Amino acid sequence: MNPGKFYALPQSPQMFKQILMASGTDRYFQIAKCFRDEDLRADRQPEFTQIDLEMSFVEQDDVIDVQERFLQRVFKDLMNVDVQVPFPRMTFDEAMTRYGSDKPDTRFGFELKSLNEVVKNCDFKVFTDALEAGGDVRGICINGYSDKFSRKDVDKMTDSIKTFGAKGLIWIRVNENEITSSVNKFFTQEQLREIADVFEAKANDLILIVAAKPSVVFASLGFLRRDLAGKLGLLDDTQYNLLWVVDFPLYEYDEEEGRYFAMHHPFTSPKAEDIPLLDTDPGKVKANAYDIILNGVELGGGSIRIHDQNLQKKMFEVLGLSEEETQSKFGFLLEAFKYGVPPHGGLAYGLDRLVMLLCGADSIREVMAFPKNQNAQCMMSEAPAEVTEKELEELSIKSTL
Ligand code: AMO
Repeated sequence: MNPGKFYALPQSPQMFKQILMASGTDRYFQIAKCFRDEDLRADRQPEFTQIDLEMSFVEQDDVIDVQERFLQRVFKDLMNVDVQVPFPRMTFDEAMTRYGSDKPDTRFGFELKSLNEVVKNCDFKVFTDALEAGGDVRGICINGYSDKFSRKDVDKMTDSIKTFGAKGLIWIRVNENEITSSVNKFFTQEQLREIADVFEAKANDLILIVAAKPSVVFASLGFLRRDLAGKLGLLDDTQYNLLWVVDFPLYEYDEEEGRYFAMHHPFTSPKAEDIPLLDTDPGKVKANAYDIILNGVELGGGSIRIHDQNLQKKMFEVLGLSEEETQSKFGFLLEAFKYGVPPHGGLAYGLDRLVMLLCGADSIREVMAFPKNQNAQCMMSEAPAEVTEKELEELSIKSTL
């Protein structure tokens, strides 16, 4: 090494862990600087810090147990709050069908309900067309707060879910003596009552319904339930609802690109019983992956990793990597697998996100020294800024701009 120069590790923090564990490290802990090119949100920054942990010869329950005790200690020492272990666990499928989100906020109700059965023979084409196209009709009931939302508010809600691909929002208001709805003319009072009964709705309840493909329905209703709970002041920040979401799908299918992506990352192992599905129906394979959620925010995520060469090759194959790409990008790892890599797994927390939640801050920007703005720029140093040709040359970077 040339002492006058900095050497950047080409690997991501995850890749770094993979290599260390493959080389026989028993346990590993890193505080890693991460850089990601993602859309910015209140809980995301392009440059952030992870607390990252990996252990050998573990299964999911071992990782979860260590993390629960770690978080219990963090809450006690920093907040003087006692959190009870074990934390509840919920499967990904249950989280989506009940909360429309893989990071459910369980501090309040407004759970999603399927209306597919009750509307399947109705005269309203928006519902029946969605069902015929393999979609879903689902709703949430904002119970006890119908009078808090005007017609204009509902229009704003409709606009807000268009960003998720929803074409509209149907509302039903349950009043003392009658039920009113944006689709009154397609439904009798009895039919509206039948829908209301799915939610056990009473007077002053507002039911909001979306009909579309499942991903749009979940994203729209998942957003609305939390957004409206916020507007109604139901997000109690003295309550700390920690829970695990488990049994994530191994892959997600990108329609635009026409291929599968790893939902967590490509080193995540499939559930043993689902391995045969890798050849026949990869979309159905569940992963040994888990996320820790606090009040509707993903605090950390991890998985049990693949430690078998053939399985890792299969994973890359389903992801559409050619034999040559696999070899050139990950050949060294596959080679190491030949010598017997200990089964291992771990998890990473977003440190800034953890601090944000513990401080009760609304945005991750509040807890970072020099957060980037919406354009991913640092307002203090004005980075990213111009670099000279000489600097680029030193780093062997060629600009085509
Ligand atoms: P994952 O991508 O789920 O997993 O990230 C782990 C945690 O890092 C935090 N985080 C972020 N915080 C701020 N800004 C961001 N842009 C951002 N992106 C992620 C979140 C998240 O839960 N290598 C795997 C972990 C593993 O498998 O062990 C990983 O990075 O709190």
